[in-house]
Amino acid sequence: MTLLVVEGLRVGYGKVEVLHGIDITVGPSEIVALLGSNGAGKTTTLRALSGLEPIRGGGVTLGGTSLVGVPAHRIAAMGLAHVPERRRLFAPLSVEENLKLGGYLMRDKPAELKQRIEIMYGLFPRLAERRLQLAGTLSGGEQQMVAIARALILKPRLLVLDEPSMGLAPLIVRSIFGIVRRLRDEGMAILLVEQNARQTLRIADRAYVLENGDILVQGAASALAQDPRVQAAYLGGVAAA
Ligand SMILES: Nc1ncnc2c1ncn2[C@@H]1O[C@H](COP(=O)(O)OP(=O)(O)OP(=O)(O)O)[C@@H](O)[C@H]1O
Ligand SMILES: [Mg+2]
Repeated sequence: MTLLVVEGLRVGYGKVEVLHGIDITVGPSEIVALLGSNGAGKTTTLRALSGLEPIRGGGVTLGGTSLVGVPAHRIAAMGLAHVPERRRLFAPLSVEENLKLGGYLMRDKPAELKQRIEIMYGLFPRLAERRLQLAGTLSGGEQQMVAIARALILKPRLLVLDEPSMGLAPLIVRSIFGIVRRLRDEGMAILLVEQNARQTLRIADRAYVLENGDILVQGAASALAQDPRVQAAYLGGVAAA
């Protein structure tokens, strides 16, 4: 069954409409990429799904329940976790304190929260060694790991990631994408916004290309990697390996 269904989604700022009625679906055990150039509306899409921008038209359902007009904290409790652009950690707090904040909705179950945090340290051993380090002093890759771990604390059904590879070295990107793939293999639904089209199309199952607030192309990631329009605009005109 499809987990996330977005139909005719319209979002804007002030008088300007940014998303002109887009359709996206994501199923369990699926990595769906949302590609597009700067300003296309990728972040706006993710923020609207998470209840951070008001939906002006169309429908969004998660597991059959509408998310339209639902406040962000309720959407998080319904199983949608958002890793925002630029990570947005609490820099003066430690790694562990950041993870605890991700489990805010579990605050009345401290034993379970502690167990979830330990599972995150298993997934990201680099964080286990740095649990008391202040988040603001971590490397970019480590900060991205904290941001993802924080989003995973509540065992979401759908994880949306906004440019997790931004500013990271290729080796770290590979390790982050490896985690994303592993989460997919364990059954999670993932909506991945990326500028790094080449690597993203290698790990994604399906992809959508957003241009000026409309879906320009969509399909299997392997097919999009061969699509001349995608190659010209996002893959430097060279066929993806
Ligand atoms: N808070 C806001 N107020 C007004 N306009 C905004 C706001 N946030 C985004 N926009 C505009 O909406 C459009 C889409 O922005 P958005 O951040 O969704 O693009 P994006 O695809 O994520 O781009 P990037 O790849 O640069 O992150 C842009 O024209 C942007 O200027
Ligand atoms: Mg963005």
